[in-house]
Amino acid sequence: MCQYVSVPSFIQHRHLWNPYERCKKSIQWPPILSWAGHMNISQEFMGNPYFCLVKIQEKYMSRCLQLAKNARGTAAPNPVVGCVVVHNKMVIGEGYTSPFGGPHAEVNAIRSVADKSKLPESTLYVSLEPCSHHGKTPPCSDLIISHEIPRVVIGIKDPNELVSGNGIKKLEKAGCNIKVGVLEDKCKAINRDFFMYQQHKRPYIILKWAQTIDGFMAPDPGLRKENPAPFWITNPRSRQLVHKWRTEEQAILAGTNTILEDNPSLTARQWHGKSPMRVILDQKLRIPQSYKIFDQSSPTLILTGMEKPSEKISGVKYETLDFTTDITSQVSRILWERQILSVIVEGGAKTLKSFISLGLWDEARIFTGSETLNAGIKAPHITGTIKEEYFIDADALKIIYRD
Ligand SMILES: NC(=O)c1ccc[n+]([C@@H]2O[C@H](COP(=O)([O-])OP(=O)(O)OC[C@H]3O[C@@H](n4cnc5c(N)ncnc54)[C@H](OP(=O)(O)O)[C@@H]3O)[C@@H](O)[C@H]2O)c1
Repeated sequence: MCQYVSVPSFIQHRHLWNPYERCKKSIQWPPILSWAGHMNISQEFMGNPYFCLVKIQEKYMSRCLQLAKNARGTAAPNPVVGCVVVHNKMVIGEGYTSPFGGPHAEVNAIRSVADKSKLPESTLYVSLEPCSHHGKTPPCSDLIISHEIPRVVIGIKDPNELVSGNGIKKLEKAGCNIKVGVLEDKCKAINRDFFMYQQHKRPYIILKWAQTIDGFMAPDPGLRKENPAPFWITNPRSRQLVHKWRTEEQAILAGTNTILEDNPSLTARQWHGKSPMRVILDQKLRIPQSYKIFDQSSPTLILTGMEKPSEKISGVKYETLDFTTDITSQVSRILWERQILSVIVEGGAKTLKSFISLGLWDEARIFTGSETLNAGIKAPHITGTIKEEYFIDADALKIIYRD
């Protein structure tokens, strides 16, 4: 594990680390060097005065994490990975995971190196262990070995049984110098859905809803019949953020009443990116085929308690659930079998509550608008650790993680 170091106040100013400034100010190196030695800071680090607050390996791993974010929403069911190639303290190559089926981050980073003759003197940094098996692409560890890259710094071991530790062993056997566990927590967090999928055999489950300041999700269904116009709790900027979130996850799930009452599209229309697969609960196949979820604009999976209908709609699939028992774990298993790493559950109240009551969720994103309703459908109650809290104009957004 990498440790952060606290830097004494007298060297916390960047300019004092600049050798030229140091000369001008007549600051002595020896106390700094002895402090650095005491804190076990490498010479490589000491040679980079502009990065005095981070160890050099953490700096390059942070860059890998930045790159990995570019793959969010396209790499799944692969993990999002970033990679940099460093030669003589210069980044000579960078890459991240291509859309599913395309080259991995290491391949893209190595390909981007203009002068390949530098590779046998370079260090490769990668946020997740390089793969060792033939999937849709050849093993990345073989590519690293074939280019004789002598040092590989890895953020975290791959939880995939087909890889876990094998990529590292292969590289070590070929004589590579390996370091594992740089910014490990962050490297795991960026792939929290992939780790959940591999280690717990279920998708990462995000619950999302909007509530009024007095805790309601929607007006009373009776009133909705009289006034069927959409009822918005959040402002347009919050709604756009939800569309961004949709592009980042593989599936979106909603209950029957939400579809019947709101006729939502459940697509990502207000953000660039792919819409998730729509997963709809419809025990008795009550939703008419004229509704927007059947518009074929994105793949749709209907989870029903009935026989699959004989009439086929392109892009719409059906799975049968046993509605006489808990359905949430059945939903979770079906999504796992379909290689869905993450799902965002967007309501309504009954659907959300069924996930909450079983503790089958990982993250809740709750908007509280500034309106009151006085009556209607009560928002769920949830407890966990508040991870983030901020405002989007007048809407409060809370991100809660399950304890
Ligand atoms: N504010 C927000 O963020 C937000 C978001 C979405 C929706 N809404 C509002 O919420 C309202 C709908 O919420 P709702 O609670 O009435 O309905 P819902 O959760 O959308 O749908 C509930 C229905 O889905 C099926 N279902 C869901 N979970 C089930 C389970 N665990 N087991 C069996 N069946 C299950 C059942 O249909 P069957 O009875 O056919 O079996 C159930 O009646 C709408 O007015 C909508 O506008 C608000």
